[in-house]
Amino acid sequence: MKTFTEPKKLQKWCAAKRMEGRKIALVPTMGYLHEGHLSLIEAARKKGADEIVVSVFVNPVQFGPNEDYDKYPRDEKADLAKCRKAGATAIFFPTPQNMYLDAHSVYVNEETLSAGLCGARRPGHFRGVCTVVAKLFNLAHPHFAVFGQKDFQQETIIRRMVRDLNFDLEIVVAPIVREPSGLARSSRNTYLSADEKSRARALSQSLFAAQADVKAKKTVPWKAYQAKIVKKLEAAGLKVDYVEAVDGETLEPVKRLEKGVAILLAVYCGKTRLIDNAVM
Ligand code: PAJ
Repeated sequence: MKTFTEPKKLQKWCAAKRMEGRKIALVPTMGYLHEGHLSLIEAARKKGADEIVVSVFVNPVQFGPNEDYDKYPRDEKADLAKCRKAGATAIFFPTPQNMYLDAHSVYVNEETLSAGLCGARRPGHFRGVCTVVAKLFNLAHPHFAVFGQKDFQQETIIRRMVRDLNFDLEIVVAPIVREPSGLARSSRNTYLSADEKSRARALSQSLFAAQADVKAKKTVPWKAYQAKIVKKLEAAGLKVDYVEAVDGETLEPVKRLEKGVAILLAVYCGKTRLIDNAVM
């Protein structure tokens, strides 16, 4: 497995591989890798990638001033071992200094899908995500890039960016990997105490119950149902940031739950912000 820290060197290596006819996959991450990330590497392999490039970069530009950039968990050594074991062929560990040169002044802004949900609560977050992902696309120029459904809004915005800015690559979306309790795997789960972890089960439980209700009833009015979910989350001691039902493509709010609608949740569990979602 090759290791790169210099953007230019990664770019040269990927270009040479492409010239040789190798199929390149990119898996962008912020590291502290878990089963969810590893499932993206597996998805890349299943799709026939010859080279799987995993980027590990805690991107300062996507964190707000009061967010957890400094304390975000990092473990380069463990990430390296996990990538090697999962079958990645290259890993990219840039530094903030070599990703953002002095006086960096160009950013990518998606203007519609980013307006609500996490975009409304985390101003500038998706601008940071789009900017770093666009840079990674330009560096690796992959045939395809793999993202997780775990970050539903992010994945939708990235697909729009690829379409609107004519990036020459395909986006592959992999399903959410969960702990046996149902909790969606996340690097931030490491912040949770045992008691918080147990309370956080209410997220996935609410989503699974909604899926079952939609399956049984076909269509369910959203407003009253939303209040029910909020109540259930609050009863578990979670502070609700948002609970929304949206069209899976446009992220526009919907009035009824039915097949194809996505429920997106964000809550605070103690000090930790958790997100989850499910498509009905
Ligand atoms: P990060 O949170 O490290 O996630 C990297 C990728 O792993 C994302 O595509 C995310 O959706 C996916 N992922 C995380 N948890 C998952 C789970 N439980 N199941 C399946 N996939 C999961 O998302 C980011 O980093 C950053 O915003 C990034 C895109 C790398 C840009 O900095």
